[in-house]
This record gives sequence, structure tokens and C-alpha cells, in this order.
Amino acid sequence: MYKENFSLKKYNTFGIDAAAQYFSIFETVERLEECIELKNRETKYEKLKTFILGGGSNILLTGNFEGLVLKNEVKGIEIVNEDDDFVYIKTGAGENWHQLVLYCIKNNLAGMENLSLIPGNVGASPMQNIGAYGVELKDMFYELEAFHLSEKKLVKFGLEDCQFGYRESVFKKKLKDQFVIINVTYRLNKIPYFNTSYGAIEQELEAMGIKAFSIQAISQAVINIRSSKLPDPTVIGNAGSFFKNPEISSQQFKTLKIAFPNIVGYALDYGNVKLAAGWLIEQCGWKGYRKGDAGCHTKQALVLVNYGHAKGHEILILSEEIIASVKDKFGVVLEREVNII
Ligand code: FAD
Ligand code: EPU
Repeated sequence: MYKENFSLKKYNTFGIDAAAQYFSIFETVERLEECIELKNRETKYEKLKTFILGGGSNILLTGNFEGLVLKNEVKGIEIVNEDDDFVYIKTGAGENWHQLVLYCIKNNLAGMENLSLIPGNVGASPMQNIGAYGVELKDMFYELEAFHLSEKKLVKFGLEDCQFGYRESVFKKKLKDQFVIINVTYRLNKIPYFNTSYGAIEQELEAMGIKAFSIQAISQAVINIRSSKLPDPTVIGNAGSFFKNPEISSQQFKTLKIAFPNIVGYALDYGNVKLAAGWLIEQCGWKGYRKGDAGCHTKQALVLVNYGHAKGHEILILSEEIIASVKDKFGVVLEREVNII
């Protein structure tokens, strides 16, 4: 039922060569329950930690995982409801995110196109409240079902229950490690609303010669922009933005702007300013840095990379050095987006 000492190298986009003490896959809730029961029954699995794995595109394995890794492969894409304006699609947590986006585009369902090409699976999408190019998962989220690991029952979560924030949800905070997300229902628009607020999208649409917007064209524009600056994990190991863009007060921003007139910041509705962490890191001289096989990407300083055989702890140390130097130069503390395992 379990594989022992199982290499996770192909199961994390950083390509870190670490092993799981025990590894198994589940396709259904019943099978998940079986895995957990067996783990509890067999004394040798007692007190073992459990880790739920999706596509492995937002984790850094800092060593072998002493415990049980359960890979979520719950599949299925199903239209469960429809009204005048919306279509509701229930999707298994183990479905690939980008394939779901393509399914929606093919069926003329709008809302996800700005989130094209984000790696990983459906299950992590609400966990992380994934976001890109002016859109976040919460904008199309309807509800999800998650399995409570200790009470052994399925629980429904609506929009409010998930407490979505910037790359945050209740599942990363108050309910951390308590639930396994089994399926997610999204609400897609029949009549598209095009979000091209992120400047680069309009520029790219123009470069593509697009006159009339469509969800297909926006998806392609996003794919083009992403491919031009984010490293492809099948070529260079990475987990996307390693850090979050930090939020500071408008007062602190004004002070920083005097010392660093080119600093990049975006005003938020409630007065604070979000800084571009990539800019801060680049100004500290890290962009293109490489030590052994651990590095900071040449085109996007926010992305840490594994050029081949870096160990997880080498990437972690590099991230600590970057945090320290950004704090030293700007007085701003970067927080990691990637989950450290
Ligand atoms: P994993 O890495 O497998 O897991 C991430 C976390 O979620 C872990 O803590 C895991 O335990 C937990 N988890 C996973 N599935 C479940 C489940 N079913 N139930 C409970 N917990 C679960 N993110 C963005 O938001 N925007 C981007 O633009 C973006 N660009 C990226 C570009 C690249 C090149 C890469 C490599 C990553 C990028 N990311 C981006 C990060 C990543 O793609 C997302 O965070 C994605 O949602 C992670 O999905 P995953 O299935 O790979 O999760
Ligand atoms: N910048 C630099 N130097 C760099 C990188 C960026 O100066 O090396 C500047 C850019 O010039 C630009 C600004 O930083 O002015 C923002 O850069 P970009 O548009 O590339 O976006 P980002 O803030 O670096 C965020 C998300 C991405 C998401 C993009 C597009 C976070 C942590 N990251 O990146 O999400 O795809 O916006 O919306 O919020 C992820 O979460 O893994 C991820 C890739």
C-alpha cells in the first residue's frame, strides 16, 4: 500500500532529490481514509507526520520527509449547476490547474484566463488563493469540500469560510494541516468581463495584433508574458515567486521613496503600499547570483532556482541571505511564499 524511501525528485518542481519515508496515492476519499487508518493501525507508522502533496510546485523540501506523503489524485471535471449568468464547475483536487483553465476557455466560460499556465493542481488553488495578472482564485471560487483528518468527515467551505487573503487562506493559518481539500467548485461567467488592468497584458495583446479581446487571446497573452520571464520548471527547477511582495504603510513608502526614487510600489485600497520584492532583491545585487546549483533567476529576482543538484537547505540558506540583505538595505522583511517542508 505504501512505497518506502520513495524519491520525490519528480514530484517537486524545484527538482530537489529528497525522499519520503512512506508514499502513497489516493484517488477517492475512501482510499484516503484507508491510508490514514492503516497508518494509525500499524505501530510503525504511529506519530508519523502526514503531508498532502499536489503538483509540488510551491514547496521546498529541505531534507527527507520523515513521515507519510499522500499524493492527491482525485479527478473529475463536472458542470453541476447553471443559471442565467454563471456555470458552476466541480473539479477534483488532483486535476491539473492549467488543464482546467483550458477546459473553461474551450467551453467559453470566462474568469480563469488571467490565471493561465500556473503550475500545480486544483487542490492547492484555494489553499494558496493563487493569483496573477490582476485576478485571484477567490474571484471565481464558489465552494469546496475538504476531509477533516481527525473527525474523518467531509466539510463544505463557502467563500467567507475560506478567509482568503494575498496567497493566504484559512487552510494555511487557523486550520493548517487539519483538512485535505477533495474538490473545488468554481463559478465561471457566461458573459466575459475582460480584466486587462495589468499593463503588460494590453501591451502583449497589441504586440499580438489583437483588436477584439477574447478569453482565448487574454490567455495566450498571459502565456506569452509568463514564458518570457518565468523559468520553465522542466528546464530549471523553481517554485515560482519564492517570496511574497511585502506590504508597508504609505508613510514608510514615502520615506523609502526619498532614499530610493525608483522603488516600485502599488497603492492598495486601504492606504498601504505593496512593494515589488523582485525590485528590492535585484537592488541588493542578487539577480543572476549563483552558488553551486542554487541561484536567483537571471530574468526574475523573485524566483530562486535549482540549476541541477542543489539541496533544499542550500536554497533555504540563500533565501535567508536574501531576507537579511533586503532588511539591511530597505528595512523591509520579506516573507516566503513557498511552503518549507
Ligand atoms: P503543492 O506544491 O503540492 O502544495 C502546496 C501546499 O498546499 C502544500 O502545503 C500542500 O500540503 C498543500 N496542498 C496541496 N494540495 C492540497 C490539498 N488537496 N489539500 C490540502 N492541502 C493541499 N502561484 C501563484 O499564485 N501565481 C503564480 O503566478 C504562480 N506562478 C508560478 C510559476 C512557476 C514557474 C511555479 C513553479 C510556481 C508558480 N506559482 C504561482 C506557485 C504554484 O504554482 C501555486 O502555489 C500552486 O497552486 C501550487 O499547487 P500544487 O498542486 O503544486 O501544490
Ligand atoms: N522587478 C524587478 N526586478 C526583478 C523582478 C521584478 O525590478 O528581477 C519589478 C518589475 O519590473 C515590475 C515589478 O517588479 O515592476 C513586478 O514584477 P512582475 O510583474 O514580474 O510581478 P511580481 O510582483 O514579481 C507577482 C506574483 C506572481 C504573478 C505576477 C503576475 C507574487 C509574490 N508574485 O510577481 O506570482 O505571476 O505578479 O501577476 O505576488 C507566484 O506567486 O509564484 C507568482 C509567480
